[in-house]
Amino acid sequence: MQLKDNSFLITGAASGLGAATAERIVAGGGRVVLCDLSDAVEAHAAQLGEAARTVRGDVTSAADMQAAVDAAVALGQQNGGQAGLSGVIHCAGVVSVAKLLDRDGNPANLDAYARTIQINLVGTFNVMRLAAAAMSHNPPGEDGERGVIINTASVAAFDGQVGQCAYSASKAGVAGMGLPAARELSRHGVRVMTIAPGVFETPMMSDIPEDAVAALSASIPFPKRLGKPDEYARLAEQIVTNPMLNGEVIRLDGGIRMQ
Ligand SMILES: NC(=O)c1ccc[n+]([C@@H]2O[C@H](COP(=O)([O-])OP(=O)(O)OC[C@H]3O[C@@H](n4cnc5c(N)ncnc54)[C@H](O)[C@@H]3O)[C@@H](O)[C@H]2O)c1
Repeated sequence: MQLKDNSFLITGAASGLGAATAERIVAGGGRVVLCDLSDAVEAHAAQLGEAARTVRGDVTSAADMQAAVDAAVALGQQNGGQAGLSGVIHCAGVVSVAKLLDRDGNPANLDAYARTIQINLVGTFNVMRLAAAAMSHNPPGEDGERGVIINTASVAAFDGQVGQCAYSASKAGVAGMGLPAARELSRHGVRVMTIAPGVFETPMMSDIPEDAVAALSASIPFPKRLGKPDEYARLAEQIVTNPMLNGEVIRLDGGIRMQ
């Protein structure tokens, strides 16, 4: 799947990994619909110029995500383009920290747990199902390819830390959905890949105190620093353009194993 002249939907595009991916796709000649809950998405799209559109929306809402997919289909078909939506890079998500028991032994809040699962896991399924339906109508390209979906898990899916029961479970769910989705969508020529980032320098990480960032960086085998959002975007570009990447979870983490 080439970037040039194709239309991509990017969720969580106001910030961090999603924003960097939108920039890289536009630099490669692609068109993008930037979707986010935050109104910062509009300013970001304005910087990207004519190739970018925005849809404000919540990834857990069927109506909001249908509107985002419809906008990406229309963007792909403008100027007589044959394909509608060619790719989704799903980056919207939230981080949460809560122990099973607080320091007085009280159990964790169930609604907070469910909210993390709803946004990170159910939101991913919501975007994936609507995007797949739209992609299945694309004319087949080389090898019969119609589209590519990239979801974002986390290394916390595999080595979650204390306090990450909700976040780790949500991301393990994202990682687990990738293979069955790729198998099912293969008959439509749609690939599904998952990126599991380590620790990246984004606003999501900005609340972490400096000494904790230094300790995290020191625990990364190489390079001893947080990942840069464009390094995620470079992997997303490689996944889009390399048709043999399918049904796999790629850790992008400098070799870190969280303790
Ligand atoms: N930054 C890291 O170190 C890191 C590590 C592993 C995984 N991740 C994952 O990568 C993804 C992107 O993270 P980031 O670091 O760019 O974070 P970020 O906070 O910079 O960006 C996340 C974006 O998602 C949006 N968002 C949140 N809930 C939403 C909802 N319900 N509907 C629509 N948009 C919503 C936010 O408004 C925000 O713009 C997340 O899924 C995160 O869990 C990040």
